[in-house]
Order: sequence, then structure tokens, then C-alpha cells
Amino acid sequence: MRLSLLSLSILPFLYAPLAIAEQRPELAQNIQNVMPKVIDWRRDIHQHPELSNREFRTAAKVAAHLEQLGLEVRTGIAHTGVVGILKGAKPGPVVALRADMDALPVTEQTGLPFASKVVSEFNGQQTGVMHACGHDAHVAMLMGAAEVLSQQQAELAGTIMFIFQPAEEGPPAGEEGGAKMMLAEGLFANPTPTAIFGLHVWPGEPGQLLVKTEGIMAAADSFQITVKGKQVHGSSPWRGIDPINVTGQLINAINLIPARQIDVTLAPAVVSFGQVHGGIRWNIIPDDVKLEGTIRTFDSGMREDLIARMAHTSEHIAKASGAEAHFHVHNFAAVTWNDPALTDWAMPSLKWAAAANGVAPIKPITGAEDFSFYQQQIPGVFFFLGISPDNTPLNEVPPNHSPMFDVNEDALITGVRALTGLALDYLAAPPQQAAQEVK
Ligand code: NI
Repeated sequence: MRLSLLSLSILPFLYAPLAIAEQRPELAQNIQNVMPKVIDWRRDIHQHPELSNREFRTAAKVAAHLEQLGLEVRTGIAHTGVVGILKGAKPGPVVALRADMDALPVTEQTGLPFASKVVSEFNGQQTGVMHACGHDAHVAMLMGAAEVLSQQQAELAGTIMFIFQPAEEGPPAGEEGGAKMMLAEGLFANPTPTAIFGLHVWPGEPGQLLVKTEGIMAAADSFQITVKGKQVHGSSPWRGIDPINVTGQLINAINLIPARQIDVTLAPAVVSFGQVHGGIRWNIIPDDVKLEGTIRTFDSGMREDLIARMAHTSEHIAKASGAEAHFHVHNFAAVTWNDPALTDWAMPSLKWAAAANGVAPIKPITGAEDFSFYQQQIPGVFFFLGISPDNTPLNEVPPNHSPMFDVNEDALITGVRALTGLALDYLAAPPQQAAQEVK
């Protein structure tokens, strides 16, 4: 009896998001109205892509737009980051929305009328520059959401933080950047959001939203191993220590760790070697060999265990041959971890946003995102927006980072609806409110 009464009292809070979105017929129209601008912005940014930590033009365009909307604008965060603060007329919670701004060292081959012709320097090499990961669409959708939400300012109870982040793809060698650097520079200090949402365009049914609770993208680490032997003439290997032979054993042994020593029923784990360098001449056994690769995991305990086993295996296999192995790991991103309670809370808003296109589950993705660093500080939900061309089998769609990658612009309205709906629903009925009611 008591339980059923309690459930009834919770209902309005738990189901508030869907109700609120449906109670705003003008919202859908306002979003519809901003879409031509979103598509213009996306094409302009696409034609003028900028590499990580060099997003000067993009940042200026974003800042000018947010200023024109009357937001409080902060620039130059983590080099080129821009933050817009929209304060509602009434007090309330703080929610953050994030878009990444950087392009990739890829030479575009789409043949689009607004294709990039930009050439730049990346780590000392000349390269074409392209929005091959769709961050142009992310920036344009969040600019659109900021415009629509700023129109609601008089009714808003709370604050919306718009984060335009540089260097998601990783800063150039020798530089800091991205989400980690924005946080280090006090991104969440004032105001402090209690939730963050972000999305990524992805090969999938156009306009469909794809989400999963808990780990949605992997933690990414690079590893470096130096195998130190003793240089000697190839004709008399017994006079030295052969690091090439140790390397051969090491690659096999390390590749077997995820297959033989890790409980793969708990979560996926991937280890891949990407570089092996050693030697200079056919008849000289070199002094050392350098190896590099990547580790992808979805569980922090498993990650630590895997790294410890890789270090242990390297050391002991080298030792067996009288060599030494030095093992190092560098972390690029944590697990993109969708808070289960916030993900449940977000479902009605996402369903409203996707409408007839629907919300579908997605398998864990072994790619990584530095959005994960925000989620280490506050609960967050990261999700994907299907942007494949109409009527095209998914296995024929060029994936992110391909020189042929393209975004179906008709799908972008779903992204603007998602960002706008999540922010409005969060201010109106954040999940904490439901939790407080349960107590
Ligand atoms: Ni990306």
C-alpha cells in the first residue's frame, strides 16, 4: 500500500522528461527553423578544417555566435576552447553539453562542393586536413542547440554550459590539450555542472540514436617496449644477446595474454602492436629493438591487470635470453562510462529526439573518446547519431577517419533535438530530484 503510494508520487518525476518535451510544441518548430543555419555552419566549418590545438577560426566563429545570442562567453581555454554559459531567468541545476572542434590529417576525397582543400603541417609533415570524424557536424549541432535554448532563457530554471572542446583527436606531439586540459584549467569550477551530455556522428541508420549504459567506448593506452640486447656480428650470435629473437617471442606472448589470461566474459580487451623498429644491416644483430602498440579495455581493474601482465611477460621473456625489457604505458582516454542512472533518465529525452527513427542499443566500441575525462568528474552520457546516406548498406558506408567519410545532413536535426531536449529536461527534472523523492 505504502509502496504503491510512493511509486505514484515518484511517477511525475520519473516520466517528466517525455512530458516536458511533448508540452513544448514550439520547441520542435524552433529546432526546425534553425536547421538551415546548422547546415550552413557545418559546410563552412567542413571547408575550413583545423587540426588539434589549431582551431582558431572555428573557435572565433563559435564565440561570435554565442556572444550574439547573449551568452557569457569564455575563450582560450586549453588553447582554443570556447565555453558559453546560458543562465536561465530562475535558479536551478547546471548541465553541460559538449562538442569537439578538431579535424584530422586526412586528404579529403569526397568530391563534395564544400570539400576541404586545406593543407597543413602535422608533426613535421605536410598533409591534407579534413573533418573526417564529423566534428564539423558536432560544432554546428551544438551552435544550433545554443540558439534554440537561448530563445527559452526567460523560462529556464538553471544554467546550461556549452563546451566547444579542442584536440579531441589528441594534441600534436609535445603539447597538452583536449578535455583533460580544459578540466585542469578549471572548466567545471564555476559553475559546476552535475551532468554532461555529448554525441558523435557514426555510420548508422540516419537519424537513429545509438546508446548503451556503462562502458560504451574503450579506455585507450599506448605502450612502448624497449628490448635491450647486446650488439654482435650476425655470424656469431652466441657472442652477444639477440633482441630481435626476444622481440619475436614477446609479440606472441603478449598477444596471447588477452586470449589466455583475461576473463573475456567480463568485458572486451584488445592488444595490438603497431610499430617494431630494430637493426640497420643484414649481418648485424642490433643492440636494441623498440616496439609500440595500443591497449583497449572497458574495465579499470582489467586494464591494470592486463598492463601488469604485459610488463611481467616482457621482463621475464627478455630475462630468459639474458636481455632486458623496459615497458611503459601512456594513457590517452579512460573508459567512456555512461552512468546507468543518468542513462535511464535520458532515455525518454532521446526517444523524443529520435522520434520515428528510434533509439537502438549499440555494442561497445573499441575506439576511445576524451569525453571519458569529463565522466570521471561528473555523471555523463555519450551517445551516437546515425548519419549514413539514405538506402545504403552499412558495410558500404565509409567509416569515421576515412577520406570518403560524409555526414547525412538530414540526420542532424535529431542531434540538435537530442542536445536541446536533454538540457531542457535536465533543468526541469534532473534525476537527483527523482532520487530525493524516493527518500
Ligand atoms: Ni571523433
